[in-house]
Amino acid sequence: MKNKYEVVRDSIKEQLRTHTIKPGEKLPSIRTASERWSCSLNTAIRAYQELEKEHLIYSIPKSGYYAVLRPLQRMRLPEERIDFTAASPDPEVMPFKDFQHCLNRAIELYEDQLFSYSDPQGFFSLRRALESHLAESQVFASPSQICVVSGAQQALHLLASMPFPNGKSAVLVEQPTFHGMLRSLELLGVTVLGIQRTTAGIDMDELERHFRNNQIKFFYTVPRFHNPLGTSYTTEQKKQIVKLAQRYDVYIVEDDYLADMETSLKADPIYSYDQSGRVLYVKSFSKIMLPGLRLATVVLPPSVMETFRLFKASCDSSTAVLSQAALELYLNSGMYDHHAALVRERYRLRMETLADCCQRYLPPQLHAQIGTGGIFSRVLLPAELDAQDIIAALHQKNVRVTSTNQSYLPTFPRENGLRISIIQTDADKIERGIALLAETATALLQKQRKEGQWRMIDWT
Ligand SMILES: Cc1ncc(COP(=O)(O)O)c(C=O)c1O
Repeated sequence: MKNKYEVVRDSIKEQLRTHTIKPGEKLPSIRTASERWSCSLNTAIRAYQELEKEHLIYSIPKSGYYAVLRPLQRMRLPEERIDFTAASPDPEVMPFKDFQHCLNRAIELYEDQLFSYSDPQGFFSLRRALESHLAESQVFASPSQICVVSGAQQALHLLASMPFPNGKSAVLVEQPTFHGMLRSLELLGVTVLGIQRTTAGIDMDELERHFRNNQIKFFYTVPRFHNPLGTSYTTEQKKQIVKLAQRYDVYIVEDDYLADMETSLKADPIYSYDQSGRVLYVKSFSKIMLPGLRLATVVLPPSVMETFRLFKASCDSSTAVLSQAALELYLNSGMYDHHAALVRERYRLRMETLADCCQRYLPPQLHAQIGTGGIFSRVLLPAELDAQDIIAALHQKNVRVTSTNQSYLPTFPRENGLRISIIQTDADKIERGIALLAETATALLQKQRKEGQWRMIDWT
């Protein structure tokens, strides 16, 4: 016979399985649960703890318990596509309803202000909300230093195109790096230099040589959960970058596109170590919520803000005010933090599953470098395996994967790798996808070995 806590636990599990309780939904409080199942508070707590251990629910202090995952037994169609290329959030975790509520409230509250031309720097009450929001990640800035932009991509493009107070013109990028930035730099005809970034970081002596010898306007870096590597700089590395930037009068453009995915309390942005106003901080809202809103923010020193405002105004006058006002309400209501916790937990579990599957399935010739968090990881391939061959073979099996080639400058030596994104997957898809990757790579390697043997036979 089941214990009472098992009865409560299994009953909630069933509600999760049948979607009576939906992902992200708040569960009954401990008191309500004890009344509903006529049990003690301790029994209800034990049941919730068991569900938490199984990663089916999570708790927010002083708020309550929330549903995390769809039950693993969910039926899936065998022909369903497995997409390891995606960079936009899982539609299943997009907060449509909550945001719809904020859009409606914003119209009631601000009326005509939302449908007129607006400040190019951003809706003032959103900038005030962003001041508190950014302070939570140790980015302290007043509304006058904050600009709202139409996506981080816009901020990067504008920064790449405008003159800087240091009067220099070249841009230094990590290799590999975010391909959207490479595209902007190429279109703008900017002189671009690269510095190799590995899972261990960058060589600080080489960074110093670049800063000292080349006319570097700014160094573009993705310190946290890098795209495509998935890794982050250590605190010491961040401090060294700031020191060199100050010494050689180089700006740092810090792209913190996955700031809200952070699980460590100690991982502060480079911005927080800078006293000299040389770090320009960019934060996107695309990965955590709705990329179609085109909302991001950038924190700039006064010497850069003036020019940036001018470039931004001549680009799109201002970012859509309706989206901005709704984001303000979404942030101030606490919905954002709640949603971010839900997404963080999901992606953390997926990354754990990916690490586990890579370890179990991949042949020794393939080397998985699992991201320290966020959404991306990399699988390094042996030289004899062409990334395009494996991509094409997996495509036939309805698995989408991309190489890291597009993240390199044309002249920079490339590592032979695949980028794996977990953002639009789940535990089941990860397992099937990695097993297929392993199977495909092994078959291609065997085929090559056989062909090699044939070539070695002397037919004359
Ligand atoms: C590192 C990085 N920065 C910026 C962006 C663009 O973000 P947004 O949608 O805010 O323009 C992306 C998108 O994938 C990205 O990977």
